[in-house]
Amino acid sequence: MREAESDQVVSFFQKLAVPVEVIDARDEFFIALKGITDPEEKREAITQTFYRNVFGRIVRKSGAKCLPQGTILTDIDETVAGIKRQHNVFEQLGIDPQEAFGYRIIEPLLQLRKDGVRRVGKALGLPSELFDRIPFPGPALSARVIGEVTPERIATVRRATAVIERLLKGTGAFQYMAILHEDRVTGVHDGKRDFGYQIEVRCWDSVDARTATPTRLSFEKLENLAREIIHDVPGTVSVTYNIAPKPPSTIEAI
Ligand code: XMP
Repeated sequence: MREAESDQVVSFFQKLAVPVEVIDARDEFFIALKGITDPEEKREAITQTFYRNVFGRIVRKSGAKCLPQGTILTDIDETVAGIKRQHNVFEQLGIDPQEAFGYRIIEPLLQLRKDGVRRVGKALGLPSELFDRIPFPGPALSARVIGEVTPERIATVRRATAVIERLLKGTGAFQYMAILHEDRVTGVHDGKRDFGYQIEVRCWDSVDARTATPTRLSFEKLENLAREIIHDVPGTVSVTYNIAPKPPSTIEAI
């Protein structure tokens, strides 16, 4: 999760009088992801850890029969088209969650895209902080680490994400993020050679995430981003901005 995100989620739901129990399953995810570098293998490891192990255990313990979740139409489209396996899609791939994991999955938003979900949230009178958040993928920050996902690499991308979200919050962009690259590059630090991190900034204009174009950020904004990332993420020697649209890019890098 992102910085302070668990607390934010708990407090959102507290305001709606819904109690939330936070389960810290990070070790299980890191063990499942150890040594994996292929993006689709990473997605599969996350799916299995999430649904079979973590949720499976909670469902068995609580006696619950089903899991409600917010799968939307774009998740289905991209998975069925073979673009990428969205972590939360099963029946359209011929997988019966009841058979595979022992519980049913209920998906009330299945016919909607992100813009439709927002309209429904507004029409229902829900607090805008619930439906006006920028989208964040189910595989979370591990969708933003190219190469192996380790606790250290997640901590690095988490710090960069916090800077980018802080600086780009007011832009009205659809989604923005940090990507940690696998390659390191040569840089210079205190007059000495460094071999440091490469962080890519992505910021997208989009309506429904099916297509997207990079937001035309001012150069001043880009320079600020670089300065703050270099300051807050020690070891960074390169900050780049993705200017390729989706397609052929995708919004996340994994
Ligand atoms: P891509 O990277 O496919 O992302 O262009 C499209 C939108 O979907 C989000 N995304 C996901 N959401 N599970 C999700 O719940 C996933 O596995 C997943 N992968 C990408 C992404 O953040 C973007 O808004």
